Amino acid sequence: MATDTERFAFVPGAAPAPTIVGAEGVYLHTADGRSILDGAGGAIVGNIGWGRTEVVAAAAAVMANGYVVPLWPTPSRLALRDELVDHWLPAGMSHVFFTSGGSESTDSALRLARAYQVGKGRADRWKVIGRHPSYHGMTTGTMAVASHLGRQKGFEPLLLPFPKVPWDDPEQVLKVVEQEDPATIAGFIVEPITGAAGACLTASDDYWRAVQQVCTEHDILLIADEVMTGYGRTGLPFGHQHFPIAPDVIVGGKGLGGGYVPLGAVAANNEVVEVLRGAGFMFFTFSGNDAACAAGAKVLQILRAEHLVERAASMGAVLGERLRAQLGQHPAVVDIRGRGMFWGIELRCNREAVVGAAMARDLWVYPAGSGPVADAVMVAPPFVISAAEIDLLVTRLHGALDQVHPG
Ligand SMILES: Cc1ncc(COP(=O)(O)O)c(C=O)c1O
Repeated sequence: MATDTERFAFVPGAAPAPTIVGAEGVYLHTADGRSILDGAGGAIVGNIGWGRTEVVAAAAAVMANGYVVPLWPTPSRLALRDELVDHWLPAGMSHVFFTSGGSESTDSALRLARAYQVGKGRADRWKVIGRHPSYHGMTTGTMAVASHLGRQKGFEPLLLPFPKVPWDDPEQVLKVVEQEDPATIAGFIVEPITGAAGACLTASDDYWRAVQQVCTEHDILLIADEVMTGYGRTGLPFGHQHFPIAPDVIVGGKGLGGGYVPLGAVAANNEVVEVLRGAGFMFFTFSGNDAACAAGAKVLQILRAEHLVERAASMGAVLGERLRAQLGQHPAVVDIRGRGMFWGIELRCNREAVVGAAMARDLWVYPAGSGPVADAVMVAPPFVISAAEIDLLVTRLHGALDQVHPG
């Protein structure tokens, strides 16, 4: 008989995966009775942890209303918009466009950058600068603006030739913008701390000053892709707040819905949105799904009421310290880096082997790496993880590394 994985996989030949039947706190429960320690909040999505029935109740309370056209307000949409504007977004950003996830959000931001420049009468501006390495999603627009060679391979003819700058070199940022001609550049998209493409690569303040400088000087929209780093993951509300930059557009997904619902958001400075006045901005059929907005608002309220962003900072420091103390000298480990509940471990061995060995020990960590970072795993648990659970996580990961790369 076919296994659950074989029945479910779209493409045949997928690695065996557990069938998940429940979740609580930082644990995922499988059909065969195991409890897996969720060391990556799924796909770096779960922030408040699993089993929060208040989120479910908030969504259920509006679900029977069915579908509402995306441009029409509802109490849930307004509640999420107000929560974001009043408590999360920087001052001067009071316009939010909802989507169903990260890719729709980043792709919309590319469209927004273009629409802004066209609205300003600059029809020659179409390029959006990306960084190497980076990941922004799986639409053809976001694949083109990112630099994740493994995921772009074979699709090159579909991808616009967006220019790229290195993730860490300020001189190159200035040089590439001049070479490309600023009069052709609409936007510049950055992950404040590189996610799975680079396993938490973190650029210097000088680098970020160079990025900000070229954007300000040439009216290039600076887009912060906060799909992974947003909503407290790095110990601050947004990842860019660790660095000397002030983005014009902030894109989020993943943690915005806490993993309970598919939800993303694009927020932009009021002056940027003003340029589009009267022009509209085409939505997706499921933009601002009502139940998703209700759940998202509740997730954000829980993060605030329980001080979970502060907890991501304080317990994240404990996590980082224990990862470094216990795995820092391991022969399999090249580097350990990150902030808050967002850690990358660069490896000297195959990431899938490490993920498999961790799963055999009932621990889920997220495979990562591309370009200069060949192999890595990410450790990014829900913010509610306890010190004892952090110890268990690190011990299990240690066992997995010992098995795959004993030295
Ligand atoms: C930084 C970043 N941007 C965009 C995306 C795409 O988001 P989604 O998979 O929700 O479409 C991801 C997903 O991993 C991401 O990490």
